[in-house]
Parts: sequence; C-alpha cells; structure tokens
Amino acid sequence: MEPSEEFLFRHKGFYFHPGHVTPDITTPEYIDSLEDFEIRDSDVFVVTYPKSGTVWTQNILSLIYHEGHRDGTENIKIIDRVPWLEYNIHNMDYVHCPSLRLFATHLPYYLVPRDLKNRRAKVIYVARNPKDVAVSYFHFSSISVLLETIPDFNVFLERFLAGKVLAGSWLDHIRGWSTHKDDFNILFLTYEEMKKNLRGAVLKICKFLGKQLNEKELDMVVEKATFDQIKTDPRANYDLWQIASTVIKGHFLHKGTVGDWKNTMTVAQNERFDHVFKEKMKDLSSTFNWATN
Ligand code: A3P
Repeated sequence: MEPSEEFLFRHKGFYFHPGHVTPDITTPEYIDSLEDFEIRDSDVFVVTYPKSGTVWTQNILSLIYHEGHRDGTENIKIIDRVPWLEYNIHNMDYVHCPSLRLFATHLPYYLVPRDLKNRRAKVIYVARNPKDVAVSYFHFSSISVLLETIPDFNVFLERFLAGKVLAGSWLDHIRGWSTHKDDFNILFLTYEEMKKNLRGAVLKICKFLGKQLNEKELDMVVEKATFDQIKTDPRANYDLWQIASTVIKGHFLHKGTVGDWKNTMTVAQNERFDHVFKEKMKDLSSTFNWATN
C-alpha cells in the first residue's frame, strides 16, 4: 500500500512531510535550496532517523550550551532552541541567526548542505534499535495528526520495512550516514548507550564538541536530560508546540525504554523483521553495536 499523499511526498528517493503550517513550508524547491545553505564551522547538527532519540539529543545539546536551559530561566521551546533544518515551522531566519546555531534534521546524507560534507561543522548521529524505532513510530503515528494513522501494526510494519514512511527506509538512512562517515565531522551514538550511561554519553558529546563543563554543570545537564524531566517540562518536549494540541493527541514522549518491541511484536512479526533486516545489517555492526533480539 502506498503512503497517502496528504501526509507524505517523495523527493529524490526520500519521504517528506509537506510541512506543519499553511502554506506548506517544506517543498521540493526548499529542500533543493538547502544544498547551498551556508554552513558555519561552529554549527552543530543532530541527525536521526525518526523516533531514535532526536528530542532527547536536542535537549542535551541545548543544555550543554546554554546555562539558561540548565537552570530553567530561559523560557524557549526545544523546537526553537534546536530547530529543524528541513521543517522551518516558525519561519526563523536561519541565515542571520547568531552563532552558535544548533539544528536537527532527518535528512539523508546526500541531501544535506554541501559544506557539511567538507567536514565543516559537527554532526551527531543518533541511532536506535530498529525494532524499537518501528514500535515507537507506530505509537507516534497513532497520536500525531501529521502522520497517517495506521491502526494495524502488521500493516504499519510492512510500510516501515518497505521504507514507505516519513524519512524513508531506516536501513538506507543509517547505511548512507555510516558508509559516508569520512565525509563528515561526525559522532555516532546509540539510544541504547545513552540509556545505559547518560552521563557517559553527555561526556562523549562534550568531548566531541570541545566543550568543557564542570562537575556541577555536568550534573545539571544529566539531571535535566532524564526521561522524567523531559516528559514533564513542556518546553523540553513538543507538548507546548504552537499547534501541538492539534498536532499531537497525547504526549510526545511515550515510554523511553529499550526493548519495548517485545511487548508489541508477535513471534511471526519478529521473524519477518529479522528476515528483512538481519542479513542487510551485518556490515553495519562495526559502527553500531546492538543486537536486535
Ligand atoms: P518511545 O516512543 O519508545 O517512548 P524522537 O525524538 O527521535 O522522535 O524519539 C522519540 C523517542 O525517544 C520516544 O521513544 C521517547 O520517549 C524517547 N525519549 C525522549 N527523551 C528521552 C529520554 N530522556 N530518555 C529516554 N528516552 C527518551
């Protein structure tokens, strides 16, 4: 079954949402224009496939850089602190924004601004076990009016495996970024390692960014980046989004756990997933070290 054109459009082998406002902000022309988007050495990009920990990493980045987010004195929503490159929903003037600019994107490696490929700026790529991604995505599709609701997980799973969802195929996304890693100044992280050792992940990010925090600052970043903090602070999740009440019928953060797929997938669905993914994932294991079972 093909995705509904009301929710997705395909451009250069990738599925985009037309945008979140009227008139549509994300158009093929806009996406093409991003190739020439001027990159600064100080820019930092969070790159993910959907449902892999984007909002979490957006928060960690802004907490590392801005004291006002650490102590809660700055009342700015996460979507404005680390805006989306391809979904400029608040029509921000990215070109004239003062440095240091932080961006989030789901773009595949071949559609990002050209200068990013010359190892300028920094990229943090966060990946998550694709089975948990699929389950999280299924849940999100049921609460987000931006995405087509597919009530049957079996149907959703086939769409996911075929890459006929927003941001296309998980495998293509991750394979593209990992096989082209030498073109970028990039740090790879997994959702699972962030769950296992958040402090360690924050330190890794700081080291990559060349940013030194003292113990107290580090404690604050870790404390503010926990699941409970992000879930309950509407500035840190998407619950306060200008149009959130019409966009998300529930909370953006769901369970925030590792292995939730086991509560959703049947034995047959798991086997189907393994059949499609296992062989193709073998050569990715040197970059990402998870077991999918
Ligand atoms: P679940 O749906 O499994 O709960 P994205 O931001 O890329 O859309 O990813 C969303 C997923 O990240 C959701 O997973 C969400 O709960 C999880 N997440 C967000 N913040 C988190 C945190 N601080 N700790 C653990 N998981 C978090």
